Amino acid sequence: MNVLLLGSGGREHALAWKMSASPLLTKLYASPGNPGIGRVAELVKLDVADHSAVASFCQEKKIDLVVVGPEGPLVAGIADDLRAWGIRVFGPSKAAARLEGSKGFTKDLCAKFNIPTAAYGRFGDLASAKAYVEKTGAPIVIKADGLAAGKGVTIAMTLDEANAALEACFDGAFGVAGAEVVVEEYLTGEEASFFCLCDGATALPFGTAQDHKRVGDGDTGPNTGGMGAYSPAPVMTPEMTERTMREIIEPTMRGMANLGAPFAGILFAGLMITDKGPKLIEYNTRFGDPECQVLMMRLKDDLLVLLNAAVDGQLAHMSIRWSDETALTVVMAARGYPGTPEKGSVIRGLDEAERDGAQIFHAGTAINGGALVANGGRVLNVTALGKTVGEAQATAYAAIDRIDWPQGFYRHDIGWRAVEREKASG
Ligand code: AMP
Ligand code: GLY
Repeated sequence: MNVLLLGSGGREHALAWKMSASPLLTKLYASPGNPGIGRVAELVKLDVADHSAVASFCQEKKIDLVVVGPEGPLVAGIADDLRAWGIRVFGPSKAAARLEGSKGFTKDLCAKFNIPTAAYGRFGDLASAKAYVEKTGAPIVIKADGLAAGKGVTIAMTLDEANAALEACFDGAFGVAGAEVVVEEYLTGEEASFFCLCDGATALPFGTAQDHKRVGDGDTGPNTGGMGAYSPAPVMTPEMTERTMREIIEPTMRGMANLGAPFAGILFAGLMITDKGPKLIEYNTRFGDPECQVLMMRLKDDLLVLLNAAVDGQLAHMSIRWSDETALTVVMAARGYPGTPEKGSVIRGLDEAERDGAQIFHAGTAINGGALVANGGRVLNVTALGKTVGEAQATAYAAIDRIDWPQGFYRHDIGWRAVEREKASG
């Protein structure tokens, strides 16, 4: 098969790495890709917003499957447009990607199909949103309805913070994404990420993970896209997984089919495990980054076989095998992240760092004058497997010690909650 992968992050490097191990693969193209992806794929420059240009490329190169990494192109309808040209795509239609593209859409789906989630209201103007906040009280959560690159959520501990967040939203802080807001109940519990591979009718559990969103050790400082992750998530016991499938995922699959928008692709449920059980925080309609990196380390089966089965509606006949080991990834970021990262510093020692079994996925890297340099906020994902979380963590940090990149930084405690659990259970 000839495959085109769209995207440029650590998530896409992990997908490229896994697909390149498949005997089904003839040639992998990636756009725009990054230097790590370039080791297993031919990098091509395509304007991903120009769907007919992407389609023409696919025809010319006889692409058998397009794999879409990030949410932007999916919400913009790239899967529909390529399919109209007869091109096979792994990723949801525009109508199904509303699960990520509109938080209000997802909340209404939950209400209609009885899916457990935080109580909420949807508002298109400041006055009615403020009145709702006044009535419910703080803490409360304010969310821009549309895609806001992970920045559209405010956890307001006071009414003043809630009102300020509402004003910023309706003032255009998130552009059109904030023209409508969802205001919702503040949930407490432990968070987990739950993934399903879906073909429109069947959803197969596709692993669990926990990530660390805050930039600093001890889960402090501003939110980021994720500073590290590990899989599996200990809180997702077989019982919790079964409840999540029955109470959240399956009604979502039925509901979407009911609305004429069957979901095919990766459904990524952000969950809060509360004392009453799992509740949906939000959906994403693609792999998480860096969660994908740890899932790919543990996946034993051929990824291309599974993606093909999802595209062809064949998942009811499939099962998926995972390594029993834990995978853990530590994000190395460029100084300044999550604000404005410093670009251009030289990174050395990656081959040496991979010597003892760690796998390094590239995110924001580039080649400049023959040297590997930082070219974004999150730059490298240093990933390892281990029999325990502690072991995976030790291997990943030992690899980081061998990386020569003084301008980079990372958290020193990725996996701390799971390591403490391991210690407590001896
Ligand atoms: P999101 O961008 O929707 O993933 O939200 C970012 C983070 O905000 C989540 O990972 C949670 O930690 C937190 N969050 C979102 N909604 C809620 C909620 N209703 N209650 C508590 N925390 C929330
Ligand atoms: N790591 C969170 C995300 O990919 O949305």
